[in-house]
Amino acid sequence: KTEILKIDLHNIDSQKIKYAAQVIEEGGLVAFPTETVYGLGANALNKTAVEKIFKAKGRPSDNPLIVHVADKKSVGNLVLRIPEKAEKLMDAFWPGPLTLVMDKQSIVPDIITAGLDTVAIRVPSHPIALALIREAKLPIAAPSANISGKPSPTDSKHVINDLYGKVDVIIDGGFSNIGVESTVVDMVVDPPMLLRPGGITLEQLEDVIGNVRIDPGIAQKNLDGKVVPKSPGMKYKHYAPKAKVVIVEGEIQKVAEKINELVKECESRDIKVGILATDETKHFYPENLTVSLGSRLNPETIAANLFNAFRDYDKTDVQTIFAEAVDSSGIGLAIMNRMNKAAGYNIIKV
Ligand code: TXA
Ligand code: MG
Repeated sequence: KTEILKIDLHNIDSQKIKYAAQVIEEGGLVAFPTETVYGLGANALNKTAVEKIFKAKGRPSDNPLIVHVADKKSVGNLVLRIPEKAEKLMDAFWPGPLTLVMDKQSIVPDIITAGLDTVAIRVPSHPIALALIREAKLPIAAPSANISGKPSPTDSKHVINDLYGKVDVIIDGGFSNIGVESTVVDMVVDPPMLLRPGGITLEQLEDVIGNVRIDPGIAQKNLDGKVVPKSPGMKYKHYAPKAKVVIVEGEIQKVAEKINELVKECESRDIKVGILATDETKHFYPENLTVSLGSRLNPETIAANLFNAFRDYDKTDVQTIFAEAVDSSGIGLAIMNRMNKAAGYNIIKV
């Protein structure tokens, strides 16, 4: 009962977009590509439609959804006020991988916001996502289109794997080129607070609005539950492949030595291992065990490949993955946040 619509982002078939938009208007579920990851969309103003999202994903109901709109103008109907700094960020980064949290109007159903007084909004830049929102003429609620707890989907085949048979339409629009989710910023407080690092970097935000604080709840291991992240979704162990993930952090040579030592130890105990390295470091390791995520000089490629690499491991019998840490500046903050969550903050410093 799931239809797969293949759409070329460089030559968008308006009939297929019309069809998908109609499914949304009628209260159905449509998975669609965005520049960050695939989203699972429904009419944000239709409570019953939004309930279907939670059901299809197996998502906890205390985790609010992002509302996707076509442009800045459409935000006015959903929020009580637009803070000046939010306006600046919209002008700088929309359409794009930035989600802004603002005080909601009552038209936004409680199920979207999990009962919070705030709503998270973004304008995606992916041409298929934009075409769909424009055609539907509705705000579209869309979490990442994965089963809860799995890595976010960066390709339609990931979505088909997770949601085929559970949604009405899956649009196949190729790879999501950013590969990590949008940056979520709470604009209700001043200075604004980074709730989830993502496609727009902390440095980029601060260039436009000055000081941005990082939610202490995401800055460190919080298994004791003392510092609860402000963004409900950040408290869950997400992005986790089936294998155990161990991050090794430090100077490159020492990291390689440590990983090779750990690999030998595992092999002596018959544990199947995998290694997530980079173009610059892959030659340190046994070739048959190693996947390069990309170049350290171009961390955007590492972000783009990370979730796909996790999903590929799920198809193997690898039991433990050793992952090299990368520099946490720029997009590296998002990469390390996702790696840390996959690893359950299991990190070895050398
Ligand atoms: O890149 C993305 O943002 C993708 C694409 C599809 O747009 N969407 C996405 O949605 O990653 P989701 O539901 O997987 O993550 C939304 C995050 C969660 O961590 C959630 O807790 C947080 O945004 N969030 C949503 N509404 C919020 C609110 N009112 N206050 C604080 N955090 C909120
Ligand atoms: Mg998600």
